[in-house]
Amino acid sequence: MQPLLEIKDLDISFRKGGGRLLPVIDAANLHLNQRQAVGIVGESGSGKTMLCRALIGTLPRHGAAITSGTIRFDDQELAGAPERVWRSIRGREIGYIPQSSLAGLNPVLTVETQLVESITAVQSQSRQQARQKAVALLERVRIPRAEQVLKARAHQLSGGMRQRVMIAAAIAQAPKLLIADEPTTALDVTIQREILTLITQLRQELGMALILVSHDLGVIEEVCDSVMVMYAGASVEAGPVGVLSTSPRHPYTRALRVSRVDRAVPGTDLEAIPGDAASVGSWPAGCRFWPRCSLADNACRRDPQPALMPIGLQLSACIHADRMFELEE
Ligand SMILES: Nc1ncnc2c1ncn2[C@@H]1O[C@H](COP(=O)(O)OP(=O)(O)O)[C@@H](O)[C@H]1O
Ligand code: SF4
Ligand SMILES: [Mg+2]
Repeated sequence: MQPLLEIKDLDISFRKGGGRLLPVIDAANLHLNQRQAVGIVGESGSGKTMLCRALIGTLPRHGAAITSGTIRFDDQELAGAPERVWRSIRGREIGYIPQSSLAGLNPVLTVETQLVESITAVQSQSRQQARQKAVALLERVRIPRAEQVLKARAHQLSGGMRQRVMIAAAIAQAPKLLIADEPTTALDVTIQREILTLITQLRQELGMALILVSHDLGVIEEVCDSVMVMYAGASVEAGPVGVLSTSPRHPYTRALRVSRVDRAVPGTDLEAIPGDAASVGSWPAGCRFWPRCSLADNACRRDPQPALMPIGLQLSACIHADRMFELEE
């Protein structure tokens, strides 16, 4: 089957003074079929948001650029595509719920003004038509009393309600792919579950593929078919969620699994992954995970960041992917 999205060896750098390039994504890879859901997981700073922004053509202008690799979406090459192409993709083919979108609604404008604006920005429609569409969209995201909510301003809505409005805006054009960047992070547990259920229902109703970004593997396992694990700008493991949760083949995936929020015993601190995450500008030479890896040896420190290689049903960027049994539970 032709994939809907295929990212191959994508590199993105910030442009710094004197023409210097600072890599922020180096060796990102992702494969997504039509209607499938993939989760992207990794600690804060691993490059998840930058990768999403590359997928809708909104990398910081003059700040960051794709330096190599390809983004193939629905038979079009998007890496290096001109703004004209992005306008036909962004919002229409790919819907986007940005990180911190709870703060994304303008507090002084009504929901109606903001939803109608996002509808007419992409499709020329009369205000009346756009308003009808806005009501239908609010109903689609299961907002009761849609007419009343249209008249509300953001501060009058709960966090869960605001997120539903943001989701409504993102699916307004029935995109083929929805990208949700940490859509539940700022919400309490019950509302988190409701939002994840809503995203799953909409995906089925609209036949959309989904990229769900989270730092919580548990959230991804609930919603997605497959997962891609990012560490320091690189894809380090990818495969079906069930396979990665029961037999991870990269020490970082394994560490994420052990530190899972939903495994924490209530009242105890969550077990953090030992050591500090490699930050942009100070990635170690060799495998970027080696300072935190108990399997690391001279080859790990000496050779370049390993490429993803097939092992069983998954892909792993660890040269010792066959030695996971040596890691302590
Ligand atoms: N303008 C910038 N210049 C240099 N580094 C930046 C800039 N903007 C973001 N970064 C860095 O890029 C890295 C990746 O960020 P991001 O994609 O937001 O990570 P994530 O979403 O996984 O938390 C972070 O380390 C962040 O500090
Ligand atoms: S390549 Fe080496 S350092 Fe990197 S994750 Fe594998 S064992 Fe650890
Ligand atoms: Mg982010």
